[in-house]
Amino acid sequence: MCRTTLLVATRQDPVVSLTDMTEEKGRPTIAVLGAGKIGEALLSGLLHGGRQADELLFTERYPERSAQLTSAYGIRATDVPTAAKTADVLVVAVKPQDIEPLLDELAPVVDAETLVVSLCAGLPTSLFERRLPAGVPVVRAMPNTPMLVGEAMSAISPGTHAEAEHLAVVEEMLSTVGKVVRVPEAQQDAVTALSGSGPAYFFFLVEAMIDAGILLGLPRAVAEALIIQSAVGAATMLAQTGEHPVILREAVTSPAGTTISAIRELEKHGVRAALIAAIEAARDRSRELGAAHEPG
Ligand SMILES: NC(=O)c1ccc[n+]([C@@H]2O[C@H](COP(=O)([O-])OP(=O)(O)OC[C@H]3O[C@@H](n4cnc5c(N)ncnc54)[C@H](OP(=O)(O)O)[C@@H]3O)[C@@H](O)[C@H]2O)c1
Repeated sequence: MCRTTLLVATRQDPVVSLTDMTEEKGRPTIAVLGAGKIGEALLSGLLHGGRQADELLFTERYPERSAQLTSAYGIRATDVPTAAKTADVLVVAVKPQDIEPLLDELAPVVDAETLVVSLCAGLPTSLFERRLPAGVPVVRAMPNTPMLVGEAMSAISPGTHAEAEHLAVVEEMLSTVGKVVRVPEAQQDAVTALSGSGPAYFFFLVEAMIDAGILLGLPRAVAEALIIQSAVGAATMLAQTGEHPVILREAVTSPAGTTISAIRELEKHGVRAALIAAIEAARDRSRELGAAHEPG
């Protein structure tokens, strides 16, 4: 399988990109509304990707947090009305449960010239379209925390008023912090469960494997080094060879060897079924978060 075909080929799209917008009417300003873990990772990634601090803005609830971010990145803190007036792109990065007060603030000050990008798990574009003035383009995006190291996996979906040019802008913005794929919005709850929460499953697995190393008598530092590098190596093989994981696993599973003894235990304990059930539960929770904001 050639994995790169899954990735979005932004450069082939005959649409307006951040760069085109730069040439035509100056670089679009991006404001992150709610600069917590994901918002900060995005701001930091955009700076590393070549954006200037004065092309970025953010809003935060507490002045201490704002001061900390401004001192770390040189990016200006602002309020929602100023962000809506100044920025071409508003990236909503508050927790889903904090969305209603933010939409109350945003609705009177945003217009159809501004692109709204939601990173909020579970929240449909229809919520934003219902609460914001008619015609405001909304793109729903689901990134993940490897954004902190420039290795995010993001999936994006257009709302009713989002055109190809809006998707291209979001694609280019998120491709500075990782990879981007386009999906229909109906698949976003599955994406949230799979890659949005996905890094946590790998961390859980690594934690359990380090515990196993300690049980077998290895010093913690040695167990950590062995497992983390094994994870990096396995991920790199998956990404670089394009081979199916079954093929790569079979290559280290020799007849009557050590690996098959371990695999038998994993199957006996239902690890595969547990992962499938876990991801299904995450998908259901994402649906619930969205349903909580349905009208009536
Ligand atoms: N973390 C992930 O792995 C991940 C992955 C994909 C998508 N997401 C989505 O990204 C969003 C942010 O997640 P996160 O983990 O970054 O959460 P977070 O660390 O709690 O960040 C949210 C930030 O927004 C601030 N905030 C809340 N209401 C605000 C308002 N009205 N105006 C300005 N700032 C406000 C919060 O301040 P306080 O701390 O004072 O509340 C906090 O600093 C969520 O919707 C989540 O679903 C997260």
